[in-house]
Amino acid sequence: MKKSDRIIVKTPAQIAGCRLAGERAAEVLRIMCDAVRPGVSTKALDDLAFDTMAALGCKSADYGYYGYPGQTCISVNEAVIHGVPSEKVVIRDGDLVSIDITVECGGFVGDNARTVIVGEGSREKRDFVAWTEEALKAGIAAARAGNRVGDISHAVELVAGRHRLGIVREYVGHGCGLSIHEGPEIPNYGAPHQGPVLREGMVICIEPMLTLGSRRIRTLKDGWTVVTADGSLACHSEQMVAITASGPAEILTPR
Ligand code: MF3
Ligand code: CO
Ligand code: CO
Repeated sequence: MKKSDRIIVKTPAQIAGCRLAGERAAEVLRIMCDAVRPGVSTKALDDLAFDTMAALGCKSADYGYYGYPGQTCISVNEAVIHGVPSEKVVIRDGDLVSIDITVECGGFVGDNARTVIVGEGSREKRDFVAWTEEALKAGIAAARAGNRVGDISHAVELVAGRHRLGIVREYVGHGCGLSIHEGPEIPNYGAPHQGPVLREGMVICIEPMLTLGSRRIRTLKDGWTVVTADGSLACHSEQMVAITASGPAEILTPR
Protein backbone atom coordinates (compact mmCIF):
# COMPACT_ATOMS: atom_id res chain seq x y z
CA MET A 1 0.00 0.00 0.00
CA LYS A 2 2.33 2.68 -1.20
CA LYS A 3 1.81 5.78 -3.23
CA SER A 4 5.30 5.69 -4.63
CA ASP A 5 8.32 3.43 -4.64
CA ARG A 6 10.62 6.34 -5.22
CA ILE A 7 13.39 6.86 -2.68
CA ILE A 8 13.63 10.58 -2.04
CA VAL A 9 16.89 12.03 -0.78
CA LYS A 10 15.73 15.13 1.09
CA THR A 11 17.36 18.55 1.13
CA PRO A 12 18.19 20.12 4.50
CA ALA A 13 15.09 22.31 4.15
CA GLN A 14 12.95 19.24 3.53
CA ILE A 15 14.51 17.46 6.50
CA ALA A 16 13.58 20.50 8.61
CA GLY A 17 9.98 20.10 7.44
CA CYS A 18 10.05 16.40 8.30
CA ARG A 19 11.52 17.24 11.70
CA LEU A 20 8.63 19.56 12.52
CA ALA A 21 6.04 17.05 11.33
CA GLY A 22 7.84 14.31 13.27
CA GLU A 23 7.83 16.37 16.46
CA ARG A 24 4.10 16.98 16.08
CA ALA A 25 3.43 13.30 15.44
CA ALA A 26 5.44 12.43 18.54
CA GLU A 27 3.57 14.97 20.65
CA VAL A 28 0.19 13.62 19.54
CA LEU A 29 1.35 10.06 20.25
CA ARG A 30 2.50 11.03 23.75
CA ILE A 31 -0.84 12.68 24.56
CA MET A 32 -2.74 9.69 23.17
CA CYS A 33 -0.72 7.19 25.20
CA ASP A 34 -1.33 9.22 28.35
CA ALA A 35 -5.08 9.12 27.67
CA VAL A 36 -5.31 5.34 27.43
CA ARG A 37 -7.22 4.00 30.41
CA PRO A 38 -9.90 1.40 31.19
CA GLY A 39 -13.37 2.39 29.99
CA VAL A 40 -12.30 4.67 27.16
CA SER A 41 -13.26 3.62 23.62
CA THR A 42 -10.81 3.76 20.75
CA LYS A 43 -13.23 6.16 19.05
CA ALA A 44 -12.97 8.55 22.01
CA LEU A 45 -9.18 8.34 21.71
CA ASP A 46 -9.43 9.04 17.99
CA ASP A 47 -11.57 12.12 18.72
CA LEU A 48 -8.88 13.31 21.12
CA ALA A 49 -6.31 12.90 18.35
CA PHE A 50 -8.42 15.04 16.02
CA ASP A 51 -8.60 17.85 18.59
CA THR A 52 -4.93 17.54 19.50
CA MET A 53 -3.78 17.69 15.89
CA ALA A 54 -5.95 20.74 15.25
CA ALA A 55 -4.51 22.47 18.32
CA LEU A 56 -0.99 21.72 17.07
CA GLY A 57 -1.72 23.07 13.59
CA CYS A 58 -1.59 19.74 11.80
CA LYS A 59 -4.01 17.12 10.56
CA SER A 60 -4.25 13.39 10.15
CA ALA A 61 -2.48 11.99 7.12
CA ASP A 62 -4.29 8.68 7.66
CA TYR A 63 -7.82 10.03 7.27
CA GLY A 64 -9.02 9.33 3.74
CA TYR A 65 -5.80 7.54 2.78
CA TYR A 66 -7.14 4.86 0.41
CA GLY A 67 -10.44 5.69 2.11
CA TYR A 68 -9.21 5.05 5.66
CA PRO A 69 -12.04 6.16 7.99
CA GLY A 70 -10.10 7.09 11.18
CA GLN A 71 -7.79 9.87 12.26
CA THR A 72 -5.40 7.34 13.77
CA CYS A 73 -4.86 3.61 13.92
CA ILE A 74 -5.53 2.01 17.32
CA SER A 75 -4.95 -1.72 17.46
CA VAL A 76 -5.85 -3.59 20.65
CA ASN A 77 -4.42 -6.95 21.78
CA GLU A 78 -4.51 -9.35 18.80
CA ALA A 79 -4.87 -6.39 16.42
CA VAL A 80 -1.47 -5.66 14.89
CA ILE A 81 -1.96 -2.49 12.84
CA HIS A 82 -4.62 -0.35 11.12
CA GLY A 83 -7.12 -0.81 13.95
CA VAL A 84 -10.10 1.33 12.98
CA PRO A 85 -11.23 3.38 16.00
CA SER A 86 -14.67 2.29 17.18
CA GLU A 87 -17.13 3.02 19.95
CA LYS A 88 -17.44 -0.75 20.33
CA VAL A 89 -13.79 -1.25 21.21
CA VAL A 90 -13.48 -0.29 24.87
CA ILE A 91 -10.10 -0.44 26.58
CA ARG A 92 -9.76 -2.75 29.58
CA ASP A 93 -7.09 -3.20 32.22
CA GLY A 94 -4.23 -5.32 30.94
CA ASP A 95 -4.85 -4.57 27.26
CA LEU A 96 -2.00 -4.01 24.83
CA VAL A 97 -2.86 -0.87 22.88
CA SER A 98 -0.89 0.01 19.75
CA ILE A 99 -1.34 3.60 18.64
CA ASP A 100 -0.05 4.77 15.27
CA ILE A 101 -0.11 8.49 14.56
CA THR A 102 0.56 9.97 11.14
CA VAL A 103 0.25 13.72 10.74
CA GLU A 104 0.58 16.15 7.89
CA CYS A 105 2.08 19.48 8.84
CA GLY A 106 3.23 22.24 6.50
CA GLY A 107 3.30 19.83 3.58
CA PHE A 108 5.37 17.21 5.39
CA VAL A 109 4.40 13.93 7.03
CA GLY A 110 5.40 12.56 10.45
CA ASP A 111 4.67 8.93 11.37
CA ASN A 112 5.23 7.08 14.64
CA ALA A 113 3.68 4.39 16.78
CA ARG A 114 4.07 2.52 20.01
CA THR A 115 2.34 -0.10 22.09
CA VAL A 116 1.40 0.58 25.70
CA ILE A 117 0.05 -1.73 28.39
CA VAL A 118 -3.05 -0.61 30.26
CA GLY A 119 -2.18 -0.84 33.92
CA GLU A 120 0.57 -3.15 35.05
CA GLY A 121 -0.13 -6.08 32.75
CA SER A 122 1.58 -9.43 33.03
CA ARG A 123 5.31 -10.12 33.06
CA GLU A 124 4.87 -11.62 29.57
CA LYS A 125 3.25 -8.47 28.20
CA ARG A 126 5.87 -6.21 29.74
CA ASP A 127 8.65 -8.33 28.25
CA PHE A 128 6.91 -8.34 24.88
CA VAL A 129 6.66 -4.55 24.78
CA ALA A 130 10.29 -4.20 25.87
CA TRP A 131 11.48 -6.69 23.23
CA THR A 132 9.61 -4.80 20.52
CA GLU A 133 11.35 -1.59 21.60
CA GLU A 134 14.65 -3.48 21.59
CA ALA A 135 14.00 -4.63 18.02
CA LEU A 136 13.16 -1.08 16.93
CA LYS A 137 16.31 0.27 18.58
CA ALA A 138 18.43 -2.34 16.85
CA GLY A 139 16.89 -1.39 13.51
CA ILE A 140 17.55 2.30 14.12
CA ALA A 141 21.16 1.55 15.10
CA ALA A 142 21.66 -0.10 11.72
CA ALA A 143 20.20 2.91 9.86
CA ARG A 144 23.47 4.53 8.86
CA ALA A 145 24.74 5.98 5.61
CA GLY A 146 26.53 3.29 3.63
CA ASN A 147 24.56 0.46 5.22
CA ARG A 148 21.78 -1.16 3.25
CA VAL A 149 18.09 -1.64 4.00
CA GLY A 150 18.81 -5.34 4.62
CA ASP A 151 21.04 -4.38 7.53
CA ILE A 152 18.06 -2.76 9.26
CA SER A 153 15.82 -5.71 8.42
CA HIS A 154 18.35 -8.20 9.69
CA ALA A 155 18.96 -6.27 12.92
CA VAL A 156 15.22 -6.29 13.69
CA GLU A 157 14.91 -9.95 12.79
CA LEU A 158 17.79 -10.97 15.06
CA VAL A 159 16.20 -9.38 18.12
CA ALA A 160 12.74 -10.75 17.34
CA GLY A 161 14.20 -14.19 16.70
CA ARG A 162 16.18 -14.19 19.93
CA HIS A 163 12.91 -13.68 21.82
CA ARG A 164 11.02 -16.17 19.64
CA LEU A 165 8.54 -13.59 18.41
CA GLY A 166 6.53 -13.87 15.21
CA ILE A 167 7.45 -11.29 12.57
CA VAL A 168 4.63 -10.00 10.39
CA ARG A 169 5.84 -9.98 6.79
CA GLU A 170 2.97 -8.53 4.82
CA TYR A 171 3.54 -5.00 6.13
CA VAL A 172 6.84 -3.15 6.25
CA GLY A 173 8.57 0.06 7.20
CA HIS A 174 8.99 2.67 4.48
CA GLY A 175 10.40 5.95 3.33
CA CYS A 176 8.33 8.91 4.51
CA GLY A 177 8.19 12.68 4.64
CA LEU A 178 6.68 14.12 1.48
CA SER A 179 3.95 11.48 1.55
CA ILE A 180 3.07 8.69 4.00
CA HIS A 181 4.62 5.88 2.02
CA GLU A 182 7.70 6.39 -0.10
CA GLY A 183 10.41 3.95 -1.07
CA PRO A 184 12.25 2.00 0.10
CA GLU A 185 10.24 -0.77 1.71
CA ILE A 186 11.85 -1.85 4.97
CA PRO A 187 10.89 -5.42 5.91
CA ASN A 188 11.40 -6.59 9.47
CA TYR A 189 13.34 -9.64 8.31
CA GLY A 190 16.01 -10.17 5.72
CA ALA A 191 19.63 -10.69 4.86
CA PRO A 192 22.34 -8.16 5.73
CA HIS A 193 24.19 -6.23 2.99
CA GLN A 194 21.18 -6.51 0.65
CA GLY A 195 18.80 -3.95 -0.78
CA PRO A 196 19.07 -0.21 -1.40
CA VAL A 197 22.03 1.67 0.07
CA LEU A 198 21.11 4.18 2.79
CA ARG A 199 22.26 7.72 2.05
CA GLU A 200 22.34 10.98 3.94
CA GLY A 201 19.00 12.79 3.60
CA MET A 202 16.80 9.72 3.38
CA VAL A 203 13.90 9.74 5.84
CA ILE A 204 12.58 6.33 6.80
CA CYS A 205 10.12 4.73 9.19
CA ILE A 206 11.27 1.60 10.95
CA GLU A 207 8.37 -0.30 12.45
CA PRO A 208 8.59 -3.85 13.77
CA MET A 209 5.21 -5.61 13.91
CA LEU A 210 5.65 -8.63 16.17
CA THR A 211 3.49 -11.36 17.67
CA LEU A 212 3.61 -13.74 20.61
CA GLY A 213 2.47 -16.57 18.33
CA SER A 214 2.23 -17.25 14.63
CA ARG A 215 3.29 -14.50 12.20
CA ARG A 216 0.15 -15.14 10.16
CA ILE A 217 -2.41 -12.36 9.93
CA ARG A 218 -5.87 -11.70 8.57
CA THR A 219 -7.91 -8.57 7.98
CA LEU A 220 -11.24 -7.96 9.73
CA LYS A 221 -14.46 -7.32 7.84
CA ASP A 222 -14.01 -3.58 8.34
CA GLY A 223 -11.45 -3.95 5.55
CA TRP A 224 -8.62 -2.47 7.59
CA THR A 225 -7.93 -3.91 11.03
CA VAL A 226 -5.11 -6.44 10.74
CA VAL A 227 -5.20 -9.13 13.44
CA THR A 228 -3.10 -12.19 14.19
CA ALA A 229 -4.61 -15.30 12.61
CA ASP A 230 -4.16 -17.29 15.82
CA GLY A 231 -5.45 -14.56 18.16
CA SER A 232 -2.06 -14.11 19.82
CA LEU A 233 -1.03 -10.71 21.11
CA ALA A 234 0.75 -8.24 18.83
CA CYS A 235 3.06 -5.27 19.36
CA HIS A 236 3.99 -2.45 17.01
CA SER A 237 6.53 0.29 17.50
CA GLU A 238 7.62 2.86 14.94
CA GLN A 239 9.92 5.81 14.66
CA MET A 240 10.77 8.08 11.76
CA VAL A 241 14.48 8.81 11.37
CA ALA A 242 16.73 10.76 9.02
CA ILE A 243 19.96 9.21 7.74
CA THR A 244 22.91 11.44 8.61
CA ALA A 245 26.26 11.82 6.82
CA SER A 246 27.99 9.82 9.52
CA GLY A 247 27.00 8.54 12.92
CA PRO A 248 23.58 7.42 14.08
CA ALA A 249 20.34 8.44 12.41
CA GLU A 250 18.50 11.48 13.72
CA ILE A 251 15.26 10.49 15.42
CA LEU A 252 12.56 12.79 14.03
CA THR A 253 9.83 11.51 16.36
CA PRO A 254 11.47 11.86 19.79
CA ARG A 255 9.80 10.04 22.69
N1 MF3 B 1 0.94 4.89 9.96
C1 MF3 B 1 0.86 3.76 9.06
C2 MF3 B 1 2.27 3.33 8.73
O1 MF3 B 1 3.08 3.28 9.61
C3 MF3 B 1 0.06 4.10 7.85
C4 MF3 B 1 -1.39 4.01 8.12
S1 MF3 B 1 -2.24 4.29 6.68
C5 MF3 B 1 -3.85 4.12 7.14
O2 MF3 B 1 2.64 3.00 7.63
F1 MF3 B 1 -4.53 4.38 6.09
F2 MF3 B 1 -4.05 2.90 7.57
F3 MF3 B 1 -4.11 4.92 8.11
CO1 CO C 1 2.72 4.52 11.27
CO1 CO D 1 4.85 3.85 9.00
